[in-house]
Amino acid sequence: MAILVATDIWKTYVDCQFVLKNVQLTLNEGEFASIQGRSGAGKSTLLRIVGLLEKMDKGDLHLFGQATNDLNEKRRAKLRLEQIGFVFQALNLIPHITATENIEVPLWLKKVNAAKRKERALELLNKFGLKSLADRFPHQMSLGEQQRVAVLRALANEPSLILADEPTAHLDEDNAEILFDLLRRLNKEFGTSILMTTTSVEESDVARTRYRLSHGTLEVKV
Ligand SMILES: Nc1ncnc2c1ncn2[C@@H]1O[C@H](COP(=O)(O)OP(=O)(O)OP(=O)(O)O)[C@@H](O)[C@H]1O
Ligand SMILES: [Mg+2]
Repeated sequence: MAILVATDIWKTYVDCQFVLKNVQLTLNEGEFASIQGRSGAGKSTLLRIVGLLEKMDKGDLHLFGQATNDLNEKRRAKLRLEQIGFVFQALNLIPHITATENIEVPLWLKKVNAAKRKERALELLNKFGLKSLADRFPHQMSLGEQQRVAVLRALANEPSLILADEPTAHLDEDNAEILFDLLRRLNKEFGTSILMTTTSVEESDVARTRYRLSHGTLEVKV
């Protein structure tokens, strides 16, 4: 079943240069797909649009069988919170709270009580072998560790779809491999659908379905 169907997506910013032109993208349940493109190709823009963080100029977007074009901001936020986990390109852990508390953020937004939030965050840290990071603040972790915590935060609300925007941008090869293992595990063991962007052709191969975004146009690579 398709959980994401984007049809004829167009986007331009103020200077009238098209960032996205007639983009078609489908993601099935349990699929792991990558979008590869150069810096400035429009990857973050596309991810923000399909994740309901930004509006397109023209096009149609169905998520989880639901038409999203006419949803108001409150309904868009609800859909995001309940179904989608974001791993942002910029490391955006909150600096003055611990790894556990950062992972709790989506649950806090969902108004889950404190004890349950903490239990869920610790369970995730345990499951992925990162228990030792529980009480550390972002500045006490390496970038690789922070990025893994950011992935766990995206998982906290058990989303059916993870949108990961250049999740390895700040990582060396070894840490990138660890992060991919984490994403592959999520995809295999939990059936979480993953849409990931990367500038690297090599990295894009970790996904089963590979797209390339160039000059505003998205193509499937075979
Ligand atoms: N809010 C904005 N206002 C104006 N132009 C923007 C805005 N956001 C992005 N752009 C422009 O749109 C184009 C695509 O940007 P985007 O961030 O989507 O690229 P990207 O593929 O994610 O690049 P990178 O790999 O460097 O992250 C760029 O030319 C960028 O300058
Ligand atoms: Mg980007």
